[in-house]
Amino acid sequence: MPVTQFAVTDTYEYLNGFGGYKESEAVEGALPLAANSPQKCPLGLYNEKLSGTSFTAPRDDNLQTWLYRILPSASHQNFTPVPESSPNSLTSTTPSFGKHFNAIPNQLRWDPFDFDKESSWIHSLHLVAGAGDPTMKQGIGIYIYAAGATMPDKTAFYSADGDFLIVPQHGVLDIRTEMGKMLVRPNEICVIPRGIRYHVALHDNEPVRGYILELYQGHFKLPELGPIGSNGLANARDFRTPVADYIEDYENTEWTLYGKFGGNLFAAKQSHTPFDIVGWHGTYYPYKYDLGRFNPVGSISYDHPDPSIFTVLTAPSIPHGAGTAVADFVIFPPRWLVAENTFRPPWYHRNTMSEFMGLIMGNYDAKGAGKGGFQPAGASLHNTMSGHGPDMQTFEKASTMDLPPTKVGEGSMAFMFESCLMLGVTEWGLKTCQKVQETYNAHSWEPLKVHFKRPESSKRGVSNGERRTGVRSARDSADFSAS
Ligand SMILES: [Fe+2]
Repeated sequence: MPVTQFAVTDTYEYLNGFGGYKESEAVEGALPLAANSPQKCPLGLYNEKLSGTSFTAPRDDNLQTWLYRILPSASHQNFTPVPESSPNSLTSTTPSFGKHFNAIPNQLRWDPFDFDKESSWIHSLHLVAGAGDPTMKQGIGIYIYAAGATMPDKTAFYSADGDFLIVPQHGVLDIRTEMGKMLVRPNEICVIPRGIRYHVALHDNEPVRGYILELYQGHFKLPELGPIGSNGLANARDFRTPVADYIEDYENTEWTLYGKFGGNLFAAKQSHTPFDIVGWHGTYYPYKYDLGRFNPVGSISYDHPDPSIFTVLTAPSIPHGAGTAVADFVIFPPRWLVAENTFRPPWYHRNTMSEFMGLIMGNYDAKGAGKGGFQPAGASLHNTMSGHGPDMQTFEKASTMDLPPTKVGEGSMAFMFESCLMLGVTEWGLKTCQKVQETYNAHSWEPLKVHFKRPESSKRGVSNGERRTGVRSARDSADFSAS
């Protein structure tokens, strides 16, 4: 059955479909008829426009939503910086954001990241890797979150820096956004676009842990399908957006709004809830998606295709050229492998793209599992032009095994944040978290065996340091003396 069997039932209501125009009213008549800015909005509401693109972006890309709310979001006291000692501070984004990424070519792998029973959502965000700068609206940030507490009552958070693509690995996120409520469980993902306020609660006090990609530029789209045709991969129908749902709280009350702005955290008090939108309509809103609904395609004859066939969402980078993404979200779902006379795991490769991988559950078929391997809640980073591929054991097995049709990835879900940018790693990611596997390469690729046997007839090449004589050497010498 192409849906995930979740342990926790989601009873919230949603609007189906990826992108495009949507509207929702928590109270009938909250949205004005035809006009967006009538002299008096229905029900005594204020209107407010929230834009996710420039006003003049092409129609297909244009993201704008009209909000009809009890009080405008402008009504708050001044923002002040949140001190680093605050339990709500951002843990590893600093004023020198963007200048403390360590760009290193080593392949990196992390053991599972720890839970943090003391922290709620904001303080649990650990920047691991990234590139670029949110103040220039260029680049991405990759975070691990691990929280053991619900955000305090009457608090809300937003990032002015980018869209959050959230990938839960453990625990259920009960998220109240300005547009409505979402329950996001492991094997689901959600996207909360730049600027939208939200509150994250735990479900049944179960700690949460997972991964986040923050996109400083543009927004996620569904990938083009090309010759696949009009259906397949992530189908538009399966994306779900919350329906309007509001709180009435504006008398003798105090809310704290936390804003991530240029990598720093600010807080402002306000005397009303930010979750007071009674109706909204437009094209800019949060959404979630069940990865179990992904419809993979693959080779039915021979060879291992490029992993781009597993792209769920893509954020194109116009300056880097057609077909290039500042961020692709790619998954490796359960699927049948049937290719004949084929090395079925990924081939060895060096990519112009950077690849950050995580594992939500189970075992990834190209890597050894268990302690010291690629484990759920762990991660790996294979940076621009850093060679990688199956580890030695996987190669030896896959290059000699029988090749009947085989289902791989049952009960598993690995994913990749892929970027055309060279990703740097933070001090927290390299050292503070204490999860880097120092022997990753030593275990994975240094033990690879040589299977090559030079045929006697070989007229070129040098065998293990032996100086070959004859025509080639004479020619090389002549070339050298002529230069
Ligand atoms: Fe790779």
